Amino acid sequence: MASPHSINTTSFLLLLSFQLFSTISEAVVPASDTFTYVNEGEFGDYIVEYDANYRALPPFANPFQLCFYNTTPNAFTLALRMGTVRSESLMRWVWEANRGNPVRENATLTFGTDGNLVLANADGRIAWQTNTANKGVVGFQVLPTGNMVLHDGKGNFIWQSFNSPSDTLLVGQSLRAGGASKLVSRASAENNIDGPYSLVMEPKQLALYYKSANSPRPMLYWSSIEWFTIDTGSLDNITVTSFPDTDEGFLYFSTFLYFTTNPSYNSNRNIAYSRYNNTLSYLRLGIDGNLRFYTYNPNVQGVAWELVETFLDRDSRLEGECQLPERCGKFGLCENSQCVACPTPNGLSGWSKDCDAKKVTSCKASDFGYYKLEGVDHFMIKYTRGDGGSKQSDCESKCTKDCKCMGYFYHTQGSRCWIAYDLKTLTRVGNSTHLAYIKTPK
Ligand SMILES: *[C@@H]1O[C@H](CO)[C@@H](O)[C@H](O)[C@H]1NC(C)=O
Ligand SMILES: *[C@@H]1O[C@H](CO)[C@@H](O)[C@H](O)[C@H]1NC(C)=O
Ligand SMILES: *[C@@H]1O[C@H](CO)[C@@H](O)[C@H](O)[C@H]1NC(C)=O
Ligand SMILES: *[C@@H]1O[C@H](CO)[C@@H](O)[C@H](O)[C@H]1NC(C)=O
Repeated sequence: MASPHSINTTSFLLLLSFQLFSTISEAVVPASDTFTYVNEGEFGDYIVEYDANYRALPPFANPFQLCFYNTTPNAFTLALRMGTVRSESLMRWVWEANRGNPVRENATLTFGTDGNLVLANADGRIAWQTNTANKGVVGFQVLPTGNMVLHDGKGNFIWQSFNSPSDTLLVGQSLRAGGASKLVSRASAENNIDGPYSLVMEPKQLALYYKSANSPRPMLYWSSIEWFTIDTGSLDNITVTSFPDTDEGFLYFSTFLYFTTNPSYNSNRNIAYSRYNNTLSYLRLGIDGNLRFYTYNPNVQGVAWELVETFLDRDSRLEGECQLPERCGKFGLCENSQCVACPTPNGLSGWSKDCDAKKVTSCKASDFGYYKLEGVDHFMIKYTRGDGGSKQSDCESKCTKDCKCMGYFYHTQGSRCWIAYDLKTLTRVGNSTHLAYIKTPK
């Protein structure tokens, strides 16, 4: 029979081992490595992207520096900046913590002994955090690759900024199935909220989408159809990589390195090249929905940046600018990457940025009609199939019944129908079987 004394000993030992266990699993950050930075004081002197004001914080790994910046008064983003004062070139924002949720003056960035990194307003309201409290984090670092990491005692990354891209992928950074699988554009230079464009890693391709308030679903305007040859399986991850050409020695490729669920299709795709070490490069989904590759060569003062590839461009092998949804603003006809006309009910007139379709305010079919354009396509047509086998009258009645429909597009060959919730950029295709019908008030 157990005596009260032996029971007490057992519970004491249990308690002791529990405490030992928790001490090990909850490794702490040494007090000397913790920090609190306050968003206060003078702004920096140098020119940075988006014409922002900024305050540089101590964490720095050449050429990356952690900063607070703002483009509108008292609305700050915590971000990593790329570029040095010495290079005398524009410094650019390549990662951000709190897009769409800015902090104010006197906000704090705190790295505590529990290993959590927290961005909070002066009133204590948390704007962003890494959620890594008591997960074994012992240290914080900005690496020379531009990856900001929280690591455990063995050097494993418990959290890394590379896993939360917004509109930019640095060399070494990936899109991943089941993880961060897309980039989202910034709304405007001034306004740091999500914009309408996204670059999405899909099972067999990269795809660009445009989503506006009026469109129920994002519209595909470009895809990398012939880039990745994946007959079976699907993309697991795509990493932006710098590959020195070992034969030449002076050529460096910017490359998409990709892994698939069927390893025999793992491969890579070169996008651009430079004649200098391009390890410091990034891919950016721009405010305009275009994709661009930039490289940074710190040895060239004044012009350290080079735009090495624009995916949708008049000189691009891939695609011209007419595929950019807002190339011609709210409405316009595009040809050879130029806006050439404003389609009106009375025919084509000269394009200007004020070109727009007349607003249809009524949902009643008797209040509006359509005007026809021949030999034009909508930006969504090139990469989507539309509804096949539909009569033109069916296509029209679909648009008529849908208050948000602004017009429909019809290919008489193949009887294909597309409903448009935004008009924006139309492309001249010089094929009279491609028709557009634009809604207009009566
Ligand atoms: C920020 O904090 C300092 C010191 O507490 C204070 O003097 C200053 O007024 C605060 N700034 C703002 C904009 O609240
Ligand atoms: C990409 O996927 C492969 C396996 O398919 C994996 O070995 C590799 O670690 C992954 N890379 C990244 C950056 O996720
Ligand atoms: C290119 O530069 C990176 C650092 O920026 C360096 O780690 C790498 O070794 C360089 N590559 C070559 C081939 O010199
Ligand atoms: C016009 O477009 C159709 C497909 O919509 C295509 O089959 C046909 O060849 C094109 N005609 C010309 C002259 O390009």
